[in-house]
Order: sequence, then structure tokens, then C-alpha cells
Amino acid sequence: MRVGILTSGGDCQSLNATMRGVAKTLYNKVKNVEIIGFIEGYKGLMYENYKVMSPADFSGILTEGGTIIGTSRQPFKLMRTPDADGNDKVELMKKTYKKLKLECLVVLGGNGSQKTANLLREEGLNVVSLPKTIDNDLYGTSMTFGFQSAVNIASDAIDCIHTTAASHGRVFIVEVMGHKVGWLTLHAGIASGADIILIPEIPYDIDKVVAAIKKRTKEGKRFSILAVAEGAISKEDAKLSKKEYKAKLAASPYPSVSYEIGKRIEEKTGQEIRVTIPGHTQRGGSPCPYDRVLSSRFGAAAAQMIIEKDYGKMVGMKHDEIIRIPLEEVAGKLKMVDPNNSIIAEAKALGISFGD
Ligand code: F6P
Repeated sequence: MRVGILTSGGDCQSLNATMRGVAKTLYNKVKNVEIIGFIEGYKGLMYENYKVMSPADFSGILTEGGTIIGTSRQPFKLMRTPDADGNDKVELMKKTYKKLKLECLVVLGGNGSQKTANLLREEGLNVVSLPKTIDNDLYGTSMTFGFQSAVNIASDAIDCIHTTAASHGRVFIVEVMGHKVGWLTLHAGIASGADIILIPEIPYDIDKVVAAIKKRTKEGKRFSILAVAEGAISKEDAKLSKKEYKAKLAASPYPSVSYEIGKRIEEKTGQEIRVTIPGHTQRGGSPCPYDRVLSSRFGAAAAQMIIEKDYGKMVGMKHDEIIRIPLEEVAGKLKMVDPNNSIIAEAKALGISFGD
């Protein structure tokens, strides 16, 4: 049996641990299995750039961040746009799949990659996918691998800011990744005792943010920490159309939303503001133990699907159990933070402001 595997889109800490889980299970349970690793994601599948993997390739990588076969972003919306040589990318991928006589393709990816996985399924390929992203925004699974490791790093960053903020009596903003959703910011913010958490799902009112800071000052607290999602949005901006907001961001003199928020707080309070952006460190380093376990379980479950020939599905998690979700249900949907989720009420009960 020959199985193709690829890692697609932005990386995360736990890709290798997941591939190891798939490979170890297949090598243990299937006689004569060969694994083909496509280099740099769908690009490798398009242009026949691959490596025939051996069991040794998957040894010693449980704790290694990044991906041993590389990744790249191949936007789903451009999948039907011909490449520089006029070739149809989907046809190229199908050709490689058929030429190599693959039994199936294993895709480790986030939202865009799952859409492409679903497209390949529609085109008749046997696909099994795994939910990768530090953003935890994949529909159909309560948890994605990479998320908890990123929460650790973002929390560490906020913890470090805490001590220096306390020394200087400053207002600090830590901008957290997460693309269009607030999971990472919400969890890192609660985990590290942020005073104010701003996420895309709860548009903020700058006056409410300022009031929360002033309240702390009045209480004798010399500093305030804001955990701000890179996709945080004000109440006014949330009223704009997608196009208008995009144009506003393009014309903005600020490198990111945190700098605009910082400037507005500075103007309204006269307090010194500092912005810290941990950026891609949140995707780096080795996976945390939670992710190592999750990835190993997801990997073993994906291999089991291959053994059963149960294709066209993504492995996921529900109530701590591994589940299989049809790709057509996953593709194109975002899992956002529900402002009515009890985690928000609990955070508010702790005194955290969401600026709403
Ligand atoms: O989806 C993962 C993610 O890290 C997001 O949180 C972030 O918005 C984006 O990728 C950054 O992408 P890139 O690595 O292409 O700059």
C-alpha cells in the first residue's frame, strides 16, 4: 500500500508528532506500506516533488517543531487559476496521485488546506485529513493540534510582560495571533492574567477599554495588560462592509491593530503604552505534552481510517473522544468564539474586560 502525506499552510509545533503518529501506526499495522512525503505541501503534489520516506524518518521527531517535509501556502481560491505554465493545478495533483498509484492522500492542514482536501475528494481522490492550526478555528473539532503549544508561548510572552509592566507602571499590549478568531488570545489572556482581552468576536468600544484601565489605576494598580487578537476590531469598524474595512486597514498608518489601539489609549489617558508582538514565535519550538498526546492520537486514528478505507473525512475531537467528520461538513466553515459561551462569562466574573 502506498500512502501520500503532506503538510500544508502555516506550520505549527506538532506537525511532525502527527505524521509520526500516522506513520508508526501504519508501519505497525499494515504489511508492505510505503509512505511518500510531498515536499512543501500541495506544491510537491503538483510538481512531483516528493521523498520516499522510511521508518527512520519518523523516528525522534515527536518533540521536533516545524515539519520534516516542509510546507507552503497554496491559496484555495487560486487552485483553479492556471500556474505560470498554464497548467491546471488540480489536474497536476490528480496526475501525480495516479502516477504514483497512491491508495490515499493524508493532508495535515488548516482551513484553506481542508478546502483543497475536500476539492480533491470531490475529484475522486481518497483523502484523510488532520486538523492543524494554532488558531483552533477548524469547524467540527473542539481542538486542533498546535493550539495548546501556541497558547503556552503566547502565555509565556504575557507572563514576561507582566513583570516589566509592574516595574514601570505601564500599559502593555501583547498582540496575539489567531487570524480571524480569538481562541488563542482568549486562552493565553486568561492563562496569564491579562486585564483586558480583545477578540474579533466581541468588537470593542475604546471608551470601555479606557474605562477599564482607569478603574485599575483608581484601585491603585500601576499597570494594565491587554491581550489583543491580531484580528480585534472596534464596534465602529465592525459596522463597515468587508471591503470598506479592508480598504481602511490598507490605508492605516499603523502596522497592526494593536498600535492603533495603543495610540487611542495614549491619547485618552496620557499613559505610556508599549506594544509587544510575539508573532511567529507562537508557531515555533517543540510541541507541548498536550499536543504530543493529541497528535499521537489523531495520527493513530487517521491511520486506522486508512486501514478501514474510510475516506473523505477529517479526524477531530469531541468530548475528549476522537471523531471522523465528513470533509464537506468542515470545508469553508470557521469555528469562532461564541460570545455567549460560558468561558466569556467566567472571564468577566474574574474581572477581565472585553471592552464591550
Ligand atoms: O493560521 C496560522 C497563522 O499563524 C495565523 O495565526 C496568522 O494570522 C497567520 O498564520 C500568519 O501567516 P504567515 O505565516 O503566512 O505570516
